[in-house]
Amino acid sequence: MRKYHAKKLEKEAIYPYQDWKITENEFLVENNHHNESIFALGNGYMGIRGTFEEDYPGSEDTTTPGFYINGVYASENIIYGEQSPNLPMKGQTMVNLADWSEINLYINEEKLDLLKGNLIDYQRELNLQQGTLCRKMIWEDRQSRKIEIKITRFISFSREHIGAIRYQFKAINFSGRITINSALNGDVRNHHHLRNKKALSILASEVDQNTGYLVHKVNSTDFKIAYVIEHLLGETVKDHCEVKKRASDNRIDWVFEINAVEGQDYTIDKLAAINHSQAEDENPLSDARAFVARAAITGFENLLEEQAEFMAGYWQDADIKIDGDNALQQAFRFNSFHILQAVGKNGRTSVPAKGLSGEYYEGHYFWDTESYVLPFFAFQRPEVARNLLLYRYNTLDKARKNAKRMRLKGALFPWRTINGDEASGFFMGSTVQYHINADIAYALNLYYQVSNDHEFIENYGLEILIETARMWSSLGSYIPLYNNQFCFNEVCGPDEYKPGVNNNAYTNYMAKFNLEIAIEIAEKIKENSPEKYQRLAERINLNEQELEMFKEVASDIYLPYNDKLEITPQDDSFLYKNPIEVDNIPEDELPLVKNWHPLIIWRYQVIKQADVMLLMLQLGNNFRRELKIKNYDYYEPKTTHDSSLSPAIYSILASEIGYKVQAYNYFMQTARLDLDDYNENAYQGIHAACMGGTWLALVQGFAGMRMFNGKLYFHPHLPDGWHKYQFRLRFKGSQIEVTIDQKKANYLLISGQQIQFKHYDKIITLNQSNLNQEAEIKQV
Ligand code: BGC
Repeated sequence: MRKYHAKKLEKEAIYPYQDWKITENEFLVENNHHNESIFALGNGYMGIRGTFEEDYPGSEDTTTPGFYINGVYASENIIYGEQSPNLPMKGQTMVNLADWSEINLYINEEKLDLLKGNLIDYQRELNLQQGTLCRKMIWEDRQSRKIEIKITRFISFSREHIGAIRYQFKAINFSGRITINSALNGDVRNHHHLRNKKALSILASEVDQNTGYLVHKVNSTDFKIAYVIEHLLGETVKDHCEVKKRASDNRIDWVFEINAVEGQDYTIDKLAAINHSQAEDENPLSDARAFVARAAITGFENLLEEQAEFMAGYWQDADIKIDGDNALQQAFRFNSFHILQAVGKNGRTSVPAKGLSGEYYEGHYFWDTESYVLPFFAFQRPEVARNLLLYRYNTLDKARKNAKRMRLKGALFPWRTINGDEASGFFMGSTVQYHINADIAYALNLYYQVSNDHEFIENYGLEILIETARMWSSLGSYIPLYNNQFCFNEVCGPDEYKPGVNNNAYTNYMAKFNLEIAIEIAEKIKENSPEKYQRLAERINLNEQELEMFKEVASDIYLPYNDKLEITPQDDSFLYKNPIEVDNIPEDELPLVKNWHPLIIWRYQVIKQADVMLLMLQLGNNFRRELKIKNYDYYEPKTTHDSSLSPAIYSILASEIGYKVQAYNYFMQTARLDLDDYNENAYQGIHAACMGGTWLALVQGFAGMRMFNGKLYFHPHLPDGWHKYQFRLRFKGSQIEVTIDQKKANYLLISGQQIQFKHYDKIITLNQSNLNQEAEIKQV
């Protein structure tokens, strides 16, 4: 373990270790931003930061509320210091939308404000089992009046347009007027990009007794967003309540004045339906009204129950049980919960790098989805993985245009995007990472192998594979001084600290994989569904000569190896750069991306994130164990892990080559990155890829699961100090449960007819007459 990383591991837990909960027991205003990310709720369609219901005007320093819809963005011209031809002209930024969660409570005229008065009791709890967030408080105002408040909120998974808040309160030592001011606040702005721009206008608003709506338009992109609110008043509120309502241009307030009686419980449920549309002739309002009306009929309690049922189903597939380490037990569930909250499931959206929990990275989708999050779903909820790939299919035309922009054939997927166009104005960190094409092809093949979804591969998958392969065949070139091998110049691998290099090994190998898998699947479909194949071939002008050319290119791709060091060089120039070890860089200069000029970073052998090591994992069947060890030993001291995508991959490789301590330490850094705030940036939003990486690090790392050529392998071991761990996987229509303890692995067929895989070298077959098999594990 490097000095710097070891230090990070010393970080203390922020929340107590609990199996199914994240609990904040003390309110400290300085933790607000971090907590707003940790307690963010979402359902893949929309997400809300964990900002308190009561507002704290003028408090941007201490709170950054946010409500977002996945895929709803504003678009502004990118301002360049110096222009070059063919740069993207327009950015895309996920818009901070109306705040429907605002609820303020007043005792007479005194507003509930945790920074004033006396906070006697406080607890906020994210319940991962139920999918709810609950805050309980006892607060005393400056006249010594005490009030007990309980607020429960959730964003429904089964009704993607519905969010709900139950607001309960009780006057403990007084009777008197309590006012609840519930609002729908459309006067909002982004906190980072666009902060000086008015991204939204109000198209319509109306308020009636307990209900009302706003309709927003995103000025630059014509998205229309309808928010409809309905309040359900508890019996005791109805008896004592007078409702006033006010609508200004950009907000609606409902004022419930209650003559509260000491010791009496009062409840107000606030239901919100949010819906959007970009089509000119569509009005999202009528559907939103119908959604809220239906939710109101169902009622809060039943909605809560639905939520719990949904979560129970999810945990059936996605839970990982760890016996012997409750810090990790908690982390796993927390991460799996947030991944679920982040993922777009409608084929038109994907996974923003920060989920729907913050504005950083502008809500953009990166390769993070395919390389880090998609495997999690492919093996647990394949239908979600399918929709992520459909999103790419639905943006294929834009990727074709992007290829043309770069004078390339086929399709080049954007590095950063929401709508499918490249949204990055910094090409040395974006367009240069052509490897995204191969990452998508790799994920597509992974999904196909795991699911056997022939319909998908025939109707969508092959077209993506051919178009991405075309890009590679036009990007590279035969270089005489490299024995006329096919080389890729001016690229960047996953390591963003080395952009604009020639023959990045990860890129070359993955391009070869992309070309080969395109050919293999084309040939398969040609044989199995000749008519479908023919139709596609005609539509995209694919012929035999082109497939032959792909074959030739794939076999001619230059695959770097350095004889002298007996390692895989990261690229042509890497080994010749200035030597350096991360342990010799002063800690306060890390992360380098924030402290060193890019040119300084580029001249050193210093790495931001797993690059060659990711290659050793993804195409691991091409490389010998000795090479993996040599590569690990060479690259590990040079890697800063300045990207949170890195430690998981090092953990997996460390597991594979028997470096048990490193495997565990890197695993810890991945698993609790946001909970313990290792990188001190969780306030910006959760790290979705890192969360997916945690799952990879357990399943591929400790359990040594690999899938090559449609076959499944396990090489399990148990980390020191653990007693047992257990997870479930789906594979080709079956589901198995894998349990690893100190001595043995147990494989149990949960559903499906038959499944076959290897445990080390032993073939295991589970079927209806042999549901369960135990096997020895080797000690590492
Ligand atoms: C990493 C990229 C990643 C991006 C978004 C960057 O810091 O280097 O690999 O795609 O963050 O998570």
